[in-house]
Amino acid sequence: MKDGNFLKEHNARSMWHPMAHPADSLANPPTIITRAQGVRITDVDGHEVVDAVGGLWNVNLGFSCQPVKDAIAAQLDVLPYYSTFRGTSNDAVIELSEGLRDFFAPDGLVRAFYTSGGSDSVETALRLARQYHKIRGEAGRVKFLSLKKGYHGTHFGGASVNGNANFRTQYEPLLPGCHHIPAPYTYRNPFNETDPAKLAALCLSALEDEIAFQGAGTIAAMIMEPVLGAGGVIPPHESFMPGVRAICDRHGILLIADEVITAFGRTGSWTGSRHWGVQPDLMCTAKAITNGYFPFGAVMISGAVAEVFENDRSGAAAIGHGYTYSGHPVGAAAAIACLAETQRLNVPENAAARGAQLFEGLLGLQEKYSVIGDVRGGHGLMCALELVADRGTKAPIDKGVIGRVQEVAYQAGAMVRVSGPNIIMSPPLVLSAQDVQVILAALDAGLATT
Ligand SMILES: Cc1ncc(COP(=O)(O)O)c(C=O)c1O
Repeated sequence: MKDGNFLKEHNARSMWHPMAHPADSLANPPTIITRAQGVRITDVDGHEVVDAVGGLWNVNLGFSCQPVKDAIAAQLDVLPYYSTFRGTSNDAVIELSEGLRDFFAPDGLVRAFYTSGGSDSVETALRLARQYHKIRGEAGRVKFLSLKKGYHGTHFGGASVNGNANFRTQYEPLLPGCHHIPAPYTYRNPFNETDPAKLAALCLSALEDEIAFQGAGTIAAMIMEPVLGAGGVIPPHESFMPGVRAICDRHGILLIADEVITAFGRTGSWTGSRHWGVQPDLMCTAKAITNGYFPFGAVMISGAVAEVFENDRSGAAAIGHGYTYSGHPVGAAAAIACLAETQRLNVPENAAARGAQLFEGLLGLQEKYSVIGDVRGGHGLMCALELVADRGTKAPIDKGVIGRVQEVAYQAGAMVRVSGPNIIMSPPLVLSAQDVQVILAALDAGLATT
């Protein structure tokens, strides 16, 4: 590996970073991470911090999960690749599919379709939803509904159902027939409603209204995150997702749970859908399925949807979709080990306890710093601070101020992520109580600069 000087000199010079302006990456070179252990990362200068980002919502078991590393190494030795396109399979993916079927049985999900990541999983779910209706003779059901503030990756389908202009505007025109419903976001919403239960009811009415306007017979699916993540950690009222499920059922619309960040324990439950007592028709997973060590994902499919595809005799259910790396044996081996370790450690329990501790601590910081307009969390290890210039008017914070908070927090011992006005925390689920204190103290130091 090249030395530190080389890395700093060439940082961002010959690559473009996702979700960044190329000129900004040159002017403000990214932090170069060179090592990681447990829940800590170390940069090129040897500065070590707690990673409150958890990689990117994916390193749930931390950076030293030996069983997953061993499984990857062993699989590379035996079979580093073979395709699962029609006619061939591999032993690892068959074993994984049985494991996932057991794991997702309480969610009513019985089949897996493999992908290379979250955006692929979203694309797959949207496509399978349209195909499901075509097989059943309702070819007119092609539209998609989703939530404003939702994040569903960056493929054209995913960007089209995305609820944030940052990921849409420069890439328009997007897929036609995608319509957005207000998010159950109590801090800012078009109804000026701060009560979570009342807001949930209003958003559900808006969903009903949109379905009536579009015509239920034109809509294939509603896609939503059980807790909105990248959009700023927005946990809905407990009535919301069950309400969406009931409305979808009433109108023959499939419900796609985008659980790319919530599956495998992050909310304090094994899945976000289970957290709210809902069984989706399709579930998008990725990220923590391999602890972030291998790019991999799976769309899980309900029994009812599977039956429609598997009972088709017309040929319409032939799946004209898939990726070279669908069911990659190394990814599958990683996922088998990861699933076992996730269950052995019972990570939702720690996610719930440490999440509650972090949320409490953040509420304490809000009492101390007026720049914190809103604190969101309370459902496992996903929390956010929304910073404002003025609490009364909720005027947006200056970019420089939030950047300084992040920088000082980093120097003080924790990597946090800034997304617009939000500081987002999604640490590994194996975090200790002491690690939570480190994150809170680092944020305290960062916020003291405001
Ligand atoms: C809910 C959700 N869906 C989809 C994606 C896209 O996943 P990927 O970046 O692996 O394509 C993400 C990524 O953060 C996500 O949070």
